[in-house]
Amino acid sequence: MEERIVSGEPQGHEDLEERSLRPQTLSQYIGQKAVKENLTVFIEAAKMREECLDHVLLYGPPGLGKTTLSMIIANEMGVNLRTTSGPAIERPGDLAAVLSGLEPGDVLFIDEIHRLNRSVEEVLYPAMEDYFLDIVIGKGPSARSVRLDLPPFTLVGATTRAGMLSAPLRDRFGVVSRLEYYTHDELQEIVERTADVLDVQMDKQAAVEVSSRSRGTPRIANRILRRIRDFAQVRGDGTIDLSITKEALELLQVDPLGLDQIDHTLLMNIIQKFRGGPVGLDTIAATIGEEAHTIEDVYEPYLMQIGFLQRTPRGRMVTDLVYDHFEMEVPKR
Ligand SMILES: Nc1ncnc2c1ncn2[C@@H]1O[C@H](COP(=O)(O)OP(=O)(O)OP(=O)(O)O)[C@@H](O)[C@H]1O
Ligand SMILES: [Mg+2]
Repeated sequence: MEERIVSGEPQGHEDLEERSLRPQTLSQYIGQKAVKENLTVFIEAAKMREECLDHVLLYGPPGLGKTTLSMIIANEMGVNLRTTSGPAIERPGDLAAVLSGLEPGDVLFIDEIHRLNRSVEEVLYPAMEDYFLDIVIGKGPSARSVRLDLPPFTLVGATTRAGMLSAPLRDRFGVVSRLEYYTHDELQEIVERTADVLDVQMDKQAAVEVSSRSRGTPRIANRILRRIRDFAQVRGDGTIDLSITKEALELLQVDPLGLDQIDHTLLMNIIQKFRGGPVGLDTIAATIGEEAHTIEDVYEPYLMQIGFLQRTPRGRMVTDLVYDHFEMEVPKR
């Protein structure tokens, strides 16, 4: 898949630059009011009791701030953060190595936790509940199980697909928080903060424009801002104003709602080939040459969020809003 500027997924060497843009404390973390309020109370309470924080599961679309939040949790608790991911822990022994290296109270962040395999998950259950591991040593008749005590720790799991988490694993998290798409106002605040950190001059109108085209996603807002900064540097005097912002977004082919060519193709296909739907996901996938799960995970969530696409029992349907957006007449149905 070619790199889309409006994709919530991280790209290339963005990670390095993202690091410097990440807020460090809950009070710097913009938006996600409900999640933040809950965490503030739970963190405060855990600190008062001198206990570690209950295990936390964060889920929601890519680029909304799950990794950032896990760092903030460790920071606010005043403990170390250890980071790993579901696919990186292949065998129970890998998990044992990570867990036995923790210090009391540490936060262990497991990204893409839905990709842990079953045998690893089973070792994780007693670790989460009672802080011990049962490890089998040896093979065949001489195999024996050894119990290893662990320090108390907080597991923070992140996933873009909560539905793919097994029920027993999900049930072991005391705190389950869903991150939502950000409002335009919140994104504007994020964009203005980023411009500050990057030390670029930016008009308020330009910040408003970027925030309305970023699909409710901070990672996209920050990425668009960096590209506009390039335009402003090369074609202007480095200051980001509304006209350079619009010009840049036009060249980047990001429309006023933050939709790109792929979104347009997807929507126009449903309109032109299937009279607006309903049409099955697999059929759409075949006609636009994309994998069904990519459409489901990457393209659809935002289109549904803005009310452009509906899931019905008979398939996907575009709404009247799409016809308005493309300045087409709404067909009689
Ligand atoms: N609430 C926020 N306030 C300010 N900046 C934010 C906020 N949330 C995220 N960001 C910015 O967005 C970028 C992406 O966030 P992050 O890496 O935490 O997303 P993620 O949910 O972990 O994504 P993925 O699902 O791809 O792992 C970060 O660089 C961070 O600077
Ligand atoms: Mg992440």
